[in-house]
Amino acid sequence: MKDLTPRREDLDPIEIASRDEIAALQLDRMRWSLRHAHDNVPHYRAAFETAGVHPDDLRSLDDLAKFPFTTKQDLRANYPFGMFAVPREQVARIHASSGTTGQPTVVGYTRADLEMWDEVVARSLRASGLRAGDVLHNAYGYGLFTGGLGIHGGAERLGLTVVPVSGGMTERQVRLIEDFGAGGITVTPSYCLSILDEYRAQGRDPAKSPLKVGIFGAEPWTNAMRSEIEEAFDMHAVDIYGLSEVIGPGVSNECVETKDGLHIWEDHFYPEVIDPATGEVLPDGELGELVFTSLTKEAFPIVRYRTRDLTRLMPGTARSMRRMEKVTGRSDDMMILRGVNVFPTQIEEQILKLDALAAHFQIELRREGRMDEMVVHVETLEGVDATGAEAQLAGLIKEAVGLSVAVKAGAPGSVARSQGKAVRVVDRRGDG
Ligand code: DLL
Repeated sequence: MKDLTPRREDLDPIEIASRDEIAALQLDRMRWSLRHAHDNVPHYRAAFETAGVHPDDLRSLDDLAKFPFTTKQDLRANYPFGMFAVPREQVARIHASSGTTGQPTVVGYTRADLEMWDEVVARSLRASGLRAGDVLHNAYGYGLFTGGLGIHGGAERLGLTVVPVSGGMTERQVRLIEDFGAGGITVTPSYCLSILDEYRAQGRDPAKSPLKVGIFGAEPWTNAMRSEIEEAFDMHAVDIYGLSEVIGPGVSNECVETKDGLHIWEDHFYPEVIDPATGEVLPDGELGELVFTSLTKEAFPIVRYRTRDLTRLMPGTARSMRRMEKVTGRSDDMMILRGVNVFPTQIEEQILKLDALAAHFQIELRREGRMDEMVVHVETLEGVDATGAEAQLAGLIKEAVGLSVAVKAGAPGSVARSQGKAVRVVDRRGDG
């Protein structure tokens, strides 16, 4: 794989500023942001009053702990525009979560917010190893989802040639990557696997593709998946994280030269990790729920938003800004089966240990009598002898997670594919 380390002189100065400089900037901006939210969003004013705090109470960054959390329920209760801090006429763009369960979550951006977003996405793509002149194949979905348009703006800002292909039509994805000479691809890791299958179906060698780096996010994925994809395409695979409530993609990104967790762009998004049960702020290094406060956003300031993503904060390495560990679990995805907690990523790690199985999988939860049962649906690879693979995988899962599960290995193509975020768990326990 090619060395893609960006030149130091190309970085934004704040990426390599001293911790003191970063903290001073954060405190200034946090004061502004809390006041802006308080003065312009009735929800924040009321929530601060109930908690007995005022923006003037923020004297140090640690004082943020006195302020109340914001949750997805708060956003839903203020649907659609109640959390906006500027008149609707100043909102240049709207994005929204899919809202498959209940009301969608709506977020808004002023022109200045869109500029800031472009800046952090450009920084993320540069950290991933792309530079002006490269072709970027952007297969994140365009539309209300922040993936497509969010990456797009930052890519143009960095000076890339963007191919706004969006998700779907997998055959065409392969043709365009090859014909346009894409150096980078932005896509969910699960959809990248479908593109990989399509390469093989077309009899093309993925390792000979023009791709130098893939920038994967929007869903959890493991280091085992990283190795799988890096080997197949002979390219780097780095992690990009974000959520629409905070901005979209580009809240944090891995550096291609280290791949040791995601540097959070702390000059715009202030992270905390809390104990999800008590709400207490945990020291850096401890595992808990990630919480974000926006420092510069105008249209949709967000104060101590509970992401439900589980991770830990770590000191900077390739950049001065702190890192977050790869998010391999989200409290919503945690399955509790017969008293054992298990995340889909733990199953993914085991599947990738077996050469006879493809990396596609889906977990089905069923109720047999009064017992909850997990069935792991996987696929065998074309032309590979998969005898014994089901029992082997069940054994690996039993060993690693401590849970007896059923494994069903189907033919290639039998596991449902997604063109964006994969649906890893299908819960049929309520189906009777
Ligand atoms: O998924 C934004 C995004 C688009 C990120 C493209 C990266 C690339 P939402 O649809 O609001 O926004 O979903 C946010 O997705 O809270 C995490 O649970 C999950 N997620 C996002 N990135 C990662 C990642 C976009 N790199 C939710 N690893 C977040 C693990 C991720 N989970």
